[in-house]
Amino acid sequence: MLVECSPAKTRQLLMARKKEGATVGVVPTMGALHQGHLNLIDAAATDCDFVVATIFVNPTQFGPNEDFKRYPRTLQSDLQLCEKAGADLVFTPDTADMYSSDAATSVHVSRLTEVLEGALRPGHFDGVTTVVAKLFNITVPDKAFFGQKDYQQQLIVRRMIADLNWGIEIVTCPTVRESDGLAMSSRNRYLSADQRQQALVLSRSLELAEMLAAECGNLPNDIAAKMQQLVQESHGVQLDYAVVVDCETLQTLSHRPSQAVALIAAKLGTTRLIDNAILRFT
Ligand code: PAJ
Repeated sequence: MLVECSPAKTRQLLMARKKEGATVGVVPTMGALHQGHLNLIDAAATDCDFVVATIFVNPTQFGPNEDFKRYPRTLQSDLQLCEKAGADLVFTPDTADMYSSDAATSVHVSRLTEVLEGALRPGHFDGVTTVVAKLFNITVPDKAFFGQKDYQQQLIVRRMIADLNWGIEIVTCPTVRESDGLAMSSRNRYLSADQRQQALVLSRSLELAEMLAAECGNLPNDIAAKMQQLVQESHGVQLDYAVVVDCETLQTLSHRPSQAVALIAAKLGTTRLIDNAILRFT
């Protein structure tokens, strides 16, 4: 497995592979890798001839009071995990390799970025779309692999690809969970033992939503209210939002759809977690 930090060399290397006829799959990450990330690499290796994983803790997607400084950085073990999972190249640039001090361009997607995570984390998605656009230009992928865990993020990346006529196929892979249901996240390692238990209310509220959607008669907003109640009754968890909204637009639904997405975000102390589930209404 190759490891490269220069954007120019990475692009050169990948362009050469494409000239030989190889399909390139990219898996963008911020490192501190867990099985959720590794599944994306595995899916890319199954689907593409050449797999590049990117590891870059992107400063521009963190707010001033967020966890950029303490975000876990575990490059050596990440590299071993990437190799085992089937990556052919890891692109791991320094901040200076990615952002020149006189940079003046960013990519902004409107509408989808104005709700939920976008409303609570101003500027976050501009940081994400700008760095993902740069990573796509550097790695020239045919396909890019994202997790359902960050549901709003993958929708926004899909919108960007469509709007900019990019022709990259976005593949969204299912959320990987711990055996008790907690969605895997690089941020789970911040949780104390008590918080780790309390965090289960996120996945439990989604299971409740799935159950209520399967019962006839329940409207999306009623289901969201039951999720909110469950979280608010639980100790140590501060709810940011729990909603049941349209899968494509993330807007509220006044009728009973055939499908919707339940999204939840909550803080446990200073650690903020998100999760979601697709609901099927019967
Ligand atoms: P990061 O949080 O490292 O996540 C990298 C990718 O792994 C994302 O597509 C995310 O949805 C996916 N992922 C994380 N946890 C997962 C889980 N439990 N199951 C399945 N997939 C999971 O998302 C980012 O980094 C950044 O915003 C990035 C896109 C790299 C831009 O900086």
